Amino acid sequence: MTTQTTQSSTTAERVLVLDFGSQFAQLIARRVREQHVYCEIVRHNIAAERVRELAPLGLIFSGGPASVYAEGAPQCDPELFDLGIPILGICYGMQLACHVLGGKVESFPSREYGRAEWRIDQADPLFEDVAPVSQVWMSHGDQVANIAEDFEQLASTHDCRFAAVKHRSRPIYGLQFHPEVTHTLEGIKLLGNFLRNICGTTGTWQLGDFATETIAQIRQSVGTDRVICGLSGGVDSSVVAAMLAAAIGPQLSCILVDNGLLRLDEEKAVIEEFTKHFQTDLHVVKAEEQFLTALAGVTDPQEKRRRIGHTFIDCFAQEAKRIEGAKYLAQGTLYPDVIESGASRDGPADTIKLHHNVGGLPDELGFELIEPLRDLFKDEVRRLGLQLGLPEEIVWRHPFPGPGLAVRCLGEVTRERLDTLRAADAIVVGEIKAAGLYRATSQAFAVLLPVQSVGVMGDSRTYDDALAVRCVNTDDFMTADWSHLPYDLLARISTRIINEVKGVNRVVYDISSKPPATIEWE
Ligand code: XMP
Repeated sequence: MTTQTTQSSTTAERVLVLDFGSQFAQLIARRVREQHVYCEIVRHNIAAERVRELAPLGLIFSGGPASVYAEGAPQCDPELFDLGIPILGICYGMQLACHVLGGKVESFPSREYGRAEWRIDQADPLFEDVAPVSQVWMSHGDQVANIAEDFEQLASTHDCRFAAVKHRSRPIYGLQFHPEVTHTLEGIKLLGNFLRNICGTTGTWQLGDFATETIAQIRQSVGTDRVICGLSGGVDSSVVAAMLAAAIGPQLSCILVDNGLLRLDEEKAVIEEFTKHFQTDLHVVKAEEQFLTALAGVTDPQEKRRRIGHTFIDCFAQEAKRIEGAKYLAQGTLYPDVIESGASRDGPADTIKLHHNVGGLPDELGFELIEPLRDLFKDEVRRLGLQLGLPEEIVWRHPFPGPGLAVRCLGEVTRERLDTLRAADAIVVGEIKAAGLYRATSQAFAVLLPVQSVGVMGDSRTYDDALAVRCVNTDDFMTADWSHLPYDLLARISTRIINEVKGVNRVVYDISSKPPATIEWE
């Protein structure tokens, strides 16, 4: 079976980021798009031939955790250096470029992590309007010890002689630090200068172009075939459905699996919103019983995820079989999902948690994949949703994990415990909305704990469940801080839950950040 990812490929001014396993590759791509230049992330070993076909105006080599001399260290096609396309190597990307072109990379005793002061030693178009001395962000063990004759040194820090270098006759640059992170104060200017002064981009790309081009490309590659799209009611799958509806309308079939792990009245709301905005074929699979049976007696979080994943695949596959002529499967996978699952096309990024929506549907289903959001961040997807005409309630809906309330119901998942959780969750979200803070927070929910504690209600002693309220603020969901909600709002949430939700006599507020905690409790 072939698995293919469909992406936009018709953008005139584009830059490619070659991913050498960096957690920052997507951030680099985003910084480029913020300069209104279209950017895609590609394999580090993409063939020079393919790059020539794609005709980018520039290439950026990301950082990566490897050492260039290590066995299996990610390499690039050496012919890339002969294409005449400007290259910016960042950290590992710089070391690799210098190494391949005759320089020497070494492991230095004083590894540099964090802030450093850099000094520009030689003027260059890369440094237009950049302060001669400023702060940069370093994160490396190795560094370039010697450059080849063809290279020249442009900038340095106290511990790093070659903080910036360039090739004397080809448009190849290297930066040992990370211009993409905000701690590098002049980083955005440096990237902008590379794009404009070295690559010659004009910066006319808009996110709306991405939608138009992706829709055109989906239409072209799908032809007259049928596409299945899994719908969860979340913003990602809704945006994918909206793009597909625009691209191939009547050839789209959506499947919503009601797993019994959804929030209060969610299935109804999704169907209502969906049918209001799209005129496509919608299949709702009622599978609560199946999921609860699979989860009976299971308390281990990973085991819950695994069983939910398998049950989801079974239900989905069964329904998909009923849809005749389906060849493609569209998924709303985002870049952070790809990275956090260690499922980056290039593999080397570290795995944090297995999200069941990434690679969850097995190859044997025989579909070709369409993942139009694979290179985007959540906030870019939201903007895209608004441009596609999706309503604010969908676009601004907080993310909800694929395994649903099961990973918020610590301990055994039963219908009764889910009902308790659903009722409390509705109060948390309802009160935050009523306070006008839903948009100001990134994710808010309740977590039912497998802990009972003593309380007193009226004249009697209780021994009931404890429940945690989790509310976080984040831009990218890879790091997050707990939301500093007003005390009176927290008090209202707590009082209402204890008074209205039977079986809960204690509410606690989670004040942990990510890292070291995660957003979900399981
Ligand atoms: P964590 O808990 O890893 O969550 O900090 C980061 C974001 O991912 C969501 N999440 C999931 N989404 N399947 C999903 O589709 C999952 O298994 C899963 N686990 C966490 C979480 O809600 C948050 O937005």
